[in-house]
Parts: sequence; structure tokens; C-alpha cells
Amino acid sequence: IYRVSAQLHSIPKRPSFGIAFDIDGVILRGRTPIGDSPKALRRLYDDSGCLKIPYLFLTNGGGIPESRRASELSQLLGVNIDPIQVVQGHSPFKNLLKRFENELIVATGKGEPAVVMSEYGFKKAISLEEYASHFHNIDPLSPYKTWTTKQPCNEQKNSSESIPSFDVTSERVKAAFVVSDPVDWSRDIQVLCDILRSGGLPGEKCEHQPPMYFAADDLEYQAVFPCERLGMGAFRIALESIFNRIHHKPLEYTSFGKPNPEVFKNAESILKQLLNEDHKDIINNSHHFETLYMIGDNPSVDVKGARQAGHPWFSILTRTGVFRGKENHTDYPADRVVDTVEEAVEYILQREA
Ligand code: G3P
Ligand code: MG
Repeated sequence: IYRVSAQLHSIPKRPSFGIAFDIDGVILRGRTPIGDSPKALRRLYDDSGCLKIPYLFLTNGGGIPESRRASELSQLLGVNIDPIQVVQGHSPFKNLLKRFENELIVATGKGEPAVVMSEYGFKKAISLEEYASHFHNIDPLSPYKTWTTKQPCNEQKNSSESIPSFDVTSERVKAAFVVSDPVDWSRDIQVLCDILRSGGLPGEKCEHQPPMYFAADDLEYQAVFPCERLGMGAFRIALESIFNRIHHKPLEYTSFGKPNPEVFKNAESILKQLLNEDHKDIINNSHHFETLYMIGDNPSVDVKGARQAGHPWFSILTRTGVFRGKENHTDYPADRVVDTVEEAVEYILQREA
């Protein structure tokens, strides 16, 4: 694998465009690069390995801290990716730090949800898995889930190490976070319903529903299996439908991730930061991008988001993921449809030449 060895420094010539890449269904399927993605990314660096075009990854996925995702992506794709270039569905959760920094919060999803939250600075983040283990028989099906013992999982250790010793069975949970796609839907729906309808302490009675946050709301996404898999949005529908049947007040929640316009605004400011020396978060009013390209595979998430964000966003839809159509998508037509991400980058570089 060709490896770009130089670190990412400020970009000498300030290009008038930047690129946001979706990950699942555009860059990777599972952990396998698709659509010649390593080749496409290499084109954004000069011969000495310095970045010449500002780009980032804008994914609704997650489950591990951005720094770890950046090194994983660097390994898989053969280029040096800086953590600042990785925006995951849960990245905006860090903006809630002021409100919940010292409060007991529960985090769920594949990977290491509590570690993600602890790295953002939340001091009392506990994984739902660990939380549930403190309430005997809270999940009546757990004795039948024999597979759980076979799963390699560092989460338990990591999160309990980062949590001060206190009794979660007597303290109210102040907020629940779905960080990444939940693994054990039946347990998570059961325990989240318990938390949400009891005011944060299973078994208690309290009117106030603790705030509930989802990192994204993708109904389906492209994983390794040939057709789409159910995503966080599907889990949200399941939880919401059940909660609304067993509780007199409908579930209140907030979903982050694409297609929310804030995600695209944030991406624009990160792309500007990449132009600055050492990526300092200074407001760079002097630079305006004429075009920002969003390369995605999901019309109702990536294309819808770019369309809603408006100028300077330009959407490019690939046929390597959720979308497989011959022509453009009917409800959310992209500005351009191509087969692969490599073709998308080729198109951009020609258009900008
Ligand atoms: O779980 C991942 C998924 O919902 C979408 O990821 O990279 O296609 O935004 P991505
Ligand atoms: Mg995708």
C-alpha cells in the first residue's frame, strides 16, 4: 500500500473547494475499501504526501473515539488521517458537555459508547450494558443470551475504570445517549423504557422524562451484506413505538447526524480549519469556499442534507451503497450521479481544474 508519510500541515494554496466523504457505502463496506477509495484519497495529496485539497469524513456511524477512528481509517486507506478530519454521528454530543459533565448518563451502541462519552469529558458516563448489570433481573431474557459471554468486549473494563465508585441503583440517570447502532435491541429497549418512564431510576415513579439523544436517524445503511441493514433510525422507531404504548406521554428525543444542516455547517468550519496553520480553531472569515462536495450513497441522508444546507454544497451520489439506481434519485436528486468515489473525485478535480 502506498502510504502518505508526511503529517497533515496547513495547505499552501488555499483551494476554493473542499470535500466531505460519507464512509459506509462510499469509502468502505464493513472494513473493506470500496470504489477505489484509497486511490481516490491519494489524489488529494501532493507527491511529498502533503494534503492539497481539504477533506473530511462525514459519517453517521461511530462507536469509537474520533482519534481511534482516524488511525483505523489511516490503516485501511493508506493515507494519514488526522482526528479533526473525522466527524461521526455522535461528535456533536460533546456540545452537551456543559449540561451533563458531572451527571450520571447512560450510553449505548456497538463499540465503546461509554469510552466515547468519557473522552468527550463526561465524568459519569456508563454503558447501558454495565448499568443493566447493577439491576438484577432487569432483562429477563439475559440468561438466554449465551452469546454475550463469547463477545470480546473491553468496554466493561474501560468504562468501570473511568467511573468513580458510586451506586447507580440510587442515583437518577440525567440523560440517555444512543452513540452507535445498538447491539442488543431487546435489552436496550427494556432498560431505556425503564429509565425514561421512571424519571431516570428504574422502578421509581416520576413524570419527568430524562432527555434522550440519538447520534443519527438512518433507517437503513449499507454494511457488508448485499442489501441494506437496519440502522439507528429503525431502533429509534422501535423504542418510540413501544414507549408510546406503555407511557402516557410520547417520547421526547433529539437526533443528530446528517441530514441536519448543523452537521454541514460544522463540516464547513472544519474544512476551513484544515487550511489554517496547525488547524487552529480561529474564525477564518477571509476564506470562502465556492463549492463543498458531499459524496454519499444515501439519497435521504447525504443528498437531502447537502441540498438542505444549500450553497456552497454540491451533492454527488455513488452507486456503491444504499443507492443503486440507473438514473438520479426521484425524491432527492443529486447534482451528479457516479458509479464510485474514485469517479466522483475524478469529476471534482476535472471540474475544478
Ligand atoms: O451505522 C452507520 C450508518 O448509519 C451510516 O454511516 O458513513 O453511511 O453515514 P455513513
Ligand atoms: Mg453511507
